[in-house]
Amino acid sequence: MMIFDGGPSIRPALSIHGTILFMAFEPFASRTHEKMKDVLMHPEAMGPAIHYYMIRGGKEKRNVTVWETGTVGGEYIKTYGHYHIGELDETYKIVQGEGVALLQKLVVEDGVPVPSRVAEFRAIPVKAGDSVYMPAGYGHLVVNTGKEWLVTMDNSPVAGPDDSASMPGHADYESVKKMRGFAYYVVEKNGAPLLVKNALYIEVQKTDFGGLAVE
Ligand SMILES: [Fe+2]
Repeated sequence: MMIFDGGPSIRPALSIHGTILFMAFEPFASRTHEKMKDVLMHPEAMGPAIHYYMIRGGKEKRNVTVWETGTVGGEYIKTYGHYHIGELDETYKIVQGEGVALLQKLVVEDGVPVPSRVAEFRAIPVKAGDSVYMPAGYGHLVVNTGKEWLVTMDNSPVAGPDDSASMPGHADYESVKKMRGFAYYVVEKNGAPLLVKNALYIEVQKTDFGGLAVE
């Protein structure tokens, strides 16, 4: 029978004759509004309980992400955003919908990336059929600016049975959390995306806004 261990991860377990066997890896997760408050322009704003859904098959089977539609405090629904640990790139294929991919590379001082200083920021409008390449060293997130669920497939790895579908080990979320998001927020203005600077960033040296309006 299926029971639940009641722990924070609520991993399902299988009980056979009183012996509880924990399943090694749950390949799905959802990002809650509560967690997204870390990185929202307006964390006090109301939003959907779940902002996006993840199914992780890793490099071979691929990963699927599904974004909710709409805005939270004017900001389009987005993924949390992360940097990769180590030299790891990935490619996202847009299956449905339209959005904006944000990429940013940090200034490195004495071999250490500085979360508040951006060497290069790029905004890339994307739609169904497009692929977007996230080079190693570039933090990335994707925003849903369309009226449909945005759906992507990507090839980032799952590191084995002890990895997390919600926050996999290859990703650094803390540098984004510290800055309450990326260098620019993507906000809806008169039905179109507008980039609004995140004032916590000290500098953004080089920008490519991909033709989007900037406040
Ligand atoms: Fe990634």
